[in-house]
Amino acid sequence: MSGKATVVAPANLAFVKYWGAVDLERALPRNPSISMTLSECHSRSTVEPCPGAATDEILLRGEDGTLSPAPPAFAERVLAHLERLRRSLGSSDRFRVATENSFPAAAGMASSASGFAALTLAVARALGRDLGEREASALARSSGSGSAARSVIGGYVEWPAGESEDDCYAFPLASHEHWDLRNVVAIVDAGPKRVSSRDGHRLAETSPYFEGRQQALPRRLRAVRDAIAARDLGALGPVLEEDAIDLHLIAMSSRPPIFYWKPGTLAVLEVVRGLRDHGLSCWSTMDAGPNVHVICEPGEEARVAASLEALDGVTRIIRDRVGPGPQDSDRHLF
Ligand code: DP6
Repeated sequence: MSGKATVVAPANLAFVKYWGAVDLERALPRNPSISMTLSECHSRSTVEPCPGAATDEILLRGEDGTLSPAPPAFAERVLAHLERLRRSLGSSDRFRVATENSFPAAAGMASSASGFAALTLAVARALGRDLGEREASALARSSGSGSAARSVIGGYVEWPAGESEDDCYAFPLASHEHWDLRNVVAIVDAGPKRVSSRDGHRLAETSPYFEGRQQALPRRLRAVRDAIAARDLGALGPVLEEDAIDLHLIAMSSRPPIFYWKPGTLAVLEVVRGLRDHGLSCWSTMDAGPNVHVICEPGEEARVAASLEALDGVTRIIRDRVGPGPQDSDRHLF
């Protein structure tokens, strides 16, 4: 049945990152990536077909609960994706769309992956279409926010490198019930990022370290797959830290260079190493920004959170965990 539909889709956190593209417009990545789908950090998207309407209407629900027209840069990306979805799903309808993020924009966390995953699935639902996992993943990816390809699937997810549109979709490695991992996010800078991931992907190959990472990746990917299968954080942790450091090494040595880290980033990395010296298994990773995601098991989450919260320069902690992936919802935004 077609009509108003709402989908909640989570953000995801990569253990092996997508960094560098074969085709940036279509978000075909140079390398495979592996991620954990989150739970607390998510986007809600409500979509209603408006047959006969001349244009789409793009709304954003703010932290105060009010709906207002989305800012132009955000609306433009949503409109472009709606065009793509209409073409792919064979519809000429215009839509009313509203989006809400569970994490405040001021937390400095990227919301494109969860936002485009939720939008893609909600449009399909609103048109009465039941997308398979592959189609949903490829369509979410085509938004240009490539990591959205991983957010349509729960648990632990792999997204292979892409050669062509048709074979570029993510697939599940293990369900969220397989391994309860936690992600304690230390927010050290809540401002919007100065350089987008898009520019990072574009410049990545100008770094002299780019090819070195490509060569290390097959071993890293195998180690991460094996560690997830064996629920072995002692094996996963060093590899996920290594890959995050490589991403930033490549960013900092791109031409021109990109510095995502802030002093608070280094302070958190040092505390995490200190916690390990005291016997805790906790491991850091950063996306294209200064905030640090610390991965640990449930028994150690409270201690990790308390240590990070106490740090000068950490403005806020978000406690997240692996989750089941997108869900349909009856709580519509309008
Ligand atoms: C560093 O092109 O998917 O997070 O559109 O900003 O969400 P956004 O980024 P995208 O690149 C993601 C880059 C990354 C690593 C990763 O998630 O794999």
